Amino acid sequence: MRFLVLGALLFAIPPPAGQVADAHRDAVDRRVDSLLSLMTLEEKVGQLVQVAVEGEESPLAEEYARQVRLGEVGSFLNSIGASRNREIQTIAMTRSRLKIPLLFGYDVIHGFRTVFPIPLAQASTWEPDLIEKAARVAAIEASSAGIHWTFAPMVDIARDPRWGRIAEGSGEDPLLGSLMAAARVRGFQGDTLARRDALLACPKHYAAYGAAEGGRDYNTVDISERTLREIYLPPFEAAVRAGAGTLMCSFNEIAGVPSSGNRHLLTDILRGEWKFDGFVVSDWGSIGEMQQHGVAGTLAEAAALGITAGVDMDMESGAYHAHLADLVRAGKVPLPLLDESVRRVLRAKFRLGLFDDPYRGGDPAREKTLLLAPEHRNLAREVARHSMVLLKNSNVLPLRKEQNVALIGPLADNRSDLLGCWSGNGREEDAVAVREGIERMLGHPVPYARGCLVAPLDRRGFAEAVEVARKADVAVLVVGETALMSGEAASRSTLGLPGVQEELVRAVAATGVPVVVVLINGRPLAVGGFEESAGAILEAWAPGVEGGNAIVDILYGANPSGRLPVTFPRSVGQIPLYYNHKNTGRPFQAEERFTSKYIDGENSPQYPFGFGLSYTTFDYSSVSLSSPLLREGGSLTVSVSVRNSGKVAGEEVVQLYIQDPVASVTRPVAELKAFRKVSLRPGEEQRVDFVLTPEMLAMFDLSMHRVVEPGAFIASVGGNARDLQSAAFQFESAGPYRLDRR
Ligand code: BGC
Repeated sequence: MRFLVLGALLFAIPPPAGQVADAHRDAVDRRVDSLLSLMTLEEKVGQLVQVAVEGEESPLAEEYARQVRLGEVGSFLNSIGASRNREIQTIAMTRSRLKIPLLFGYDVIHGFRTVFPIPLAQASTWEPDLIEKAARVAAIEASSAGIHWTFAPMVDIARDPRWGRIAEGSGEDPLLGSLMAAARVRGFQGDTLARRDALLACPKHYAAYGAAEGGRDYNTVDISERTLREIYLPPFEAAVRAGAGTLMCSFNEIAGVPSSGNRHLLTDILRGEWKFDGFVVSDWGSIGEMQQHGVAGTLAEAAALGITAGVDMDMESGAYHAHLADLVRAGKVPLPLLDESVRRVLRAKFRLGLFDDPYRGGDPAREKTLLLAPEHRNLAREVARHSMVLLKNSNVLPLRKEQNVALIGPLADNRSDLLGCWSGNGREEDAVAVREGIERMLGHPVPYARGCLVAPLDRRGFAEAVEVARKADVAVLVVGETALMSGEAASRSTLGLPGVQEELVRAVAATGVPVVVVLINGRPLAVGGFEESAGAILEAWAPGVEGGNAIVDILYGANPSGRLPVTFPRSVGQIPLYYNHKNTGRPFQAEERFTSKYIDGENSPQYPFGFGLSYTTFDYSSVSLSSPLLREGGSLTVSVSVRNSGKVAGEEVVQLYIQDPVASVTRPVAELKAFRKVSLRPGEEQRVDFVLTPEMLAMFDLSMHRVVEPGAFIASVGGNARDLQSAAFQFESAGPYRLDRR
């Protein structure tokens, strides 16, 4: 009964979230060490093994139960449900030698049972506080279902909309991505991991998974250390600083080194520079995949590479289970290295309070009342409303209740695709379809025609759709992608609407009836095939369980306030297309052939980063600076006045960008440095002040030091990355201002 003694001792110590204070850490570490001293080599390896057991069925299959009894597994993934996980945990707590509790992990990416909009949509709110609340709800629900650990937030920067996993992240910008990453970590973990409703967070996929060549999932990445540090790493660092207790490495290689064996990333940067004291889990099978990558000849070699690089837990490849003990016995993996990984895993279990209460929040009664609780659904509706981006509006929206509306399209009466990819424990029957939402709000049936399906090339339903539209004052077409067209292994080589949906939009528009296109999708789409036919386009993303209601809220007057967290290209050929690009030596000039451009298309995006319309309009004053000079230790304020010049209340996301036009290395044409979402009544004007410090101007110089170089800078403010007003200032310093001591 030694675990009880350890548990009782630990109970006295409240472990705070993530990176705990030193005193607490020391106390936890003493308990970890005393437990470690009791463990056999096989039991130690067991803590580093994670096995997938799908679903909610019980009892647990005998092969897994045996592994638990023998202490050969430290964590399960994909096992959900309070009763089932309680039953499995009971095996560990009563039948294994050391009674070390199991850790249950699950992909709670955008909600558990109450499915929120996909993360890309959530980023479109530009409201980290709201997203923190959504993550909190996800944690409350998942923890009640016996889950301790979520494989989220996904914080991969994505500049390529072909990559299906762009749906799971926060888009293309490192600042917005970092703020969302930190907000989600705080939301999942709560104020202390010891709370029974805290979920251990796991930022993923470390690193640069989103930079896959050709946007093809799992593909090769080859980027510079500078791009890695300036674009792809900041959200991970932000998540670590917010206290994330674990981290997942990625499938991809970077410049010849698969992430699961990348010591530079996993040890030098993560632990050396960022002082991460949690544990690292591999991605699914990624330790074993180092054989296919071609850096390990055998599974044993892959295991040695993984553990030495800094991957503490092996998700599902079986490499650690099969080979780690032998590798240690053969002297190929030092025991102290293995012990350190085991310590990290045990530390997480102690911090979660599992040694005190191995069942924690998992409780069938709580599960019953908490899943899909009305307040959770309300929040899901609010987040969905705030995440929608109005891309076009020629005075068609908002609709009026007295208009005769026709509802058309393959996703108009659809529930499952509203949930999007990685929808946790979400169920189709929980979701509100657009048709249901609109009919409930209007209080009567609405003429409806599906027109076609999402992907098949079948136009037989067009005639009915056209007929229905003809009799209406306005046609709302709900079109887009199915849930499985984005997410993992869902890369696309085209970005238009799949199937014959664009033709459907055009056919309906040909009736002359105004058309509102509502897009349900998990990535930026190229809208050129139907943009001109649409009187209005609303990007609703995959909006979650309350999607239908939230879409109807917006269509009938709730003012859209979402802004794009990612650039929308005109065509696939422009990709990668992102706002913070370099100027080149021959920047685009329409009239000059020998400049950087296409001979058969435009350089500019369809919709720029940060873009989104409103039912009102906003006027910006010119930009003013509190001083033309900024010095080390100082700050300057960039100010602008924003006025609601329209007739209804609305929210604007005021964005501050910086450019460093001359430096020792080339700099992006613009970098987002701050933003504020302001709410304005008609006619109301508000001054927005952004305080700029030298640290916000930092870059990596030729020697990869973080510095601010003296000279001119440009501060630009506006409502998106294209429509900006600027003012210049100087950073004054005797030489480069060093911000690191690396
Ligand atoms: C994905 C991860 C996910 C894991 C567990 C992998 O295929 O890349 O994002 O967390 O599976 O489901």
